[in-house]
Amino acid sequence: MNKTGWIIYNGNLPGNKFFDFAQMLQEAATRKNSHTKIYKNTELLALLDSDQLQILNQLPNALPDYVLFTDKDLYLAKQFELLGVPVFNSARAIEISDDKIATYQRLAYSQLPIPKTIIAPKIFIRNTNYPSFPDLETVINTLGIPMIVKEAFGSFGEQVYLIRTLEELRNKIDELQGKPFMFQEFIKSSFGKDIRIQVVGNQVVAAMKRQAIDDFRANVTAGGTMEAYEPSEPEKKLAIQATKSIQADFAGVDLLFGPNEQPLVCEINSNAHIRNLLECTGINTADYIIDYTLEQISEDK
Ligand SMILES: Nc1ncnc2c1ncn2[C@@H]1O[C@H](COP(=O)(O)OP(=O)(O)O)[C@@H](O)[C@H]1O
Ligand SMILES: [Mg+2]
Repeated sequence: MNKTGWIIYNGNLPGNKFFDFAQMLQEAATRKNSHTKIYKNTELLALLDSDQLQILNQLPNALPDYVLFTDKDLYLAKQFELLGVPVFNSARAIEISDDKIATYQRLAYSQLPIPKTIIAPKIFIRNTNYPSFPDLETVINTLGIPMIVKEAFGSFGEQVYLIRTLEELRNKIDELQGKPFMFQEFIKSSFGKDIRIQVVGNQVVAAMKRQAIDDFRANVTAGGTMEAYEPSEPEKKLAIQATKSIQADFAGVDLLFGPNEQPLVCEINSNAHIRNLLECTGINTADYIIDYTLEQISEDK
């Protein structure tokens, strides 16, 4: 029997990127004779009642054999898991990936190379009566300055800041109070460049190098470039280990160029978009994701 799948995306975000990703997956599934439907997360209401969990307006026997979840609606992802439907990536992997602090904690726990990081103590209410929060001397002595301040939740480089002075650091902390963030060593040798490595299962399927023109962030795209990249064996191994450390089935792993050519993990994107990679390398990650998914659910039977 051919397997059926649902592909769920965030229909509330502007632009076509999110639907495009879902469509790339659908086309790949069709090539493998797997029938799929694309849904916005808002079209699927998760019902909880004392005697049942359900996806409202969907007959229980109409549930798919698998769900490809390109959104971050964790409760919905979890609902499918509780209903016994395999979800790729899992709710847990998406949750860790979304939260950069949780990601770095998993990476450090797995003893994988990362920029040295200090988690900012959690402040619940902004209170300017505590101007000394936290012990900045220890932070600066541990990480050096300039340093990176990075919010736990962010994308497209927009919540990542290069801090050059103590005063800038104080101002940024003031600005961010209430939001989770971290202090991080600035990897100078990677200024404006990084590597995106796409992992599916135990395999690296494609990679590209990104370079900004005039910014420390490689993914700030105004005028930046992307080119196909052949990762070294240690880079491939690290990307696969990083993906596994957050229990992801597939991910776009960003590596920084550390001192002495040592790759460092910058980020693991469980919902990495794959269009740029296709344009840059000719490799369609969607085919690998579908092959992997169909293989997993046939093993799970
Ligand atoms: N510690 C760091 N040292 C140097 N550059 C960094 C560091 N952290 C992030 N960057 C740069 O900033 C970019 C965005 O950071 P990242 O953590 O990937 O956040 P986002 O989720 O917004 O992409 C990275 O691609 C990299 O070029
Ligand atoms: Mg990134």
